[in-house]
Amino acid sequence: MRTQVGIIGAGPAGLLLSHLLHLRGISSVVLEKRSRDYVERRVRAGVLEQGTVDTLVEAGVGERLLREGLPHHGIELRYGGAGHRIAFEKLVPGRSITVYGQQEVVKDLIAARLAAGGDLRFEVEDVAVHSLESDPYLTFGGERLDCDVIAGCDGFHGVSRPAVPEGVLSVYERDYPFAWLGILARVAPSSEELIYTRTERGFALHSMRSPTVSRFYLQVPADARVEEWPDERIWAELRARLESVPGFTLTTGEITEKGVTPMRAFVAEPMQYGRLYLAGDAAHIVPPTGAKGLNLAVADVRVLTEALAAYFADGSTGLLDGYSDACLKRVWRAQHFSWWMTTLLHTFEDEDPYGRRLQLSYLDYVTSSEAAATTLAENYVGLP
Ligand code: APR
Ligand code: PHB
Repeated sequence: MRTQVGIIGAGPAGLLLSHLLHLRGISSVVLEKRSRDYVERRVRAGVLEQGTVDTLVEAGVGERLLREGLPHHGIELRYGGAGHRIAFEKLVPGRSITVYGQQEVVKDLIAARLAAGGDLRFEVEDVAVHSLESDPYLTFGGERLDCDVIAGCDGFHGVSRPAVPEGVLSVYERDYPFAWLGILARVAPSSEELIYTRTERGFALHSMRSPTVSRFYLQVPADARVEEWPDERIWAELRARLESVPGFTLTTGEITEKGVTPMRAFVAEPMQYGRLYLAGDAAHIVPPTGAKGLNLAVADVRVLTEALAAYFADGSTGLLDGYSDACLKRVWRAQHFSWWMTTLLHTFEDEDPYGRRLQLSYLDYVTSSEAAATTLAENYVGLP
């Protein structure tokens, strides 16, 4: 079997790459180890930057996103007994974000690929990459797929990054001493906008998926397990953290999904080796506080598509050679922003009183200085 681009992973990165390549007349095969049902149900983040929405709409997969996605023109920072709105329409006019679940993006992309006769293989076993320097190929479940290039879109725990020979990649990482417990609940959002809350009990985030489904996150210890968090405990803790301003009442409901996400940052450089190109979580992870993970994956894929289109058009390798450098600027900006949002809003056990006062002073600055609020807003909605 032969294709132009062998893609490992049917997350947002792999699926979007396959779709964008198809629009340029470039063939690909997507190999995914999980089932279609599993990837379509996997609940993840849900904040799409303007550039991500534009990419999906221009690629013809934004119809449901435009209909069901929730445009947001601001977020609230809540701390010290008061809420402060970061108003995108005033600080970054014309730019906003859209709340739309990542698994909805995945569903739309799978539907588009299948409608176009795309070759997506689910539940494939033992995917391995070979001969990365030239004439690369993939093996899986006893089959062989020859390709011109391989795209490693297989997430943080995939097989493509570990296949790069030792010593080639530089790795930068940081683990945070806490995790996020995330839930979905069948209840109308208690606020129209996202609320990022800092309290002495820890961070909490109020988000949503639709007019009838809310999404919440709680800062919990790094080793927390969902079994330790029965529904009543989750609601009590969300109340304690979110009902920290006068007049705000949290509406509770049936919890339909619970999960613990580790908080970690990771970058592998360069994002390429020989004929292998890494995109999305396979190359970098950010803590979710800045809502950048999915958006970075989409940005990588945009760059990779242009580079592959040039390569398959006339054999030119300039853009492909510059792929990693072109992506890493944005990746590191997002790393910094995600680190900054995380340290601004979480409680750190080893923080001394001086450090806590600094954190509160910085929050006061961000919510009172237009320049500081603009920095937050322009990073949050996404740099062009
Ligand atoms: N063989 C085949 N498929 C694999 C393998 C493997 N050995 N290992 C992992 N995969 C699949 C996973 O099952 C998953 O479906 O690769 C896919 C990777 O998808 P994601 O983890 O969603 O990564 P990505 O497409 O880069 O999207 C990044 O996902 O984790 C979030 O916050 C992150 O929003 C960001 C987005
Ligand atoms: C979400 O809605 O899942 C969400 C929103 C904002 C974040 C992270 C996750 O920063």
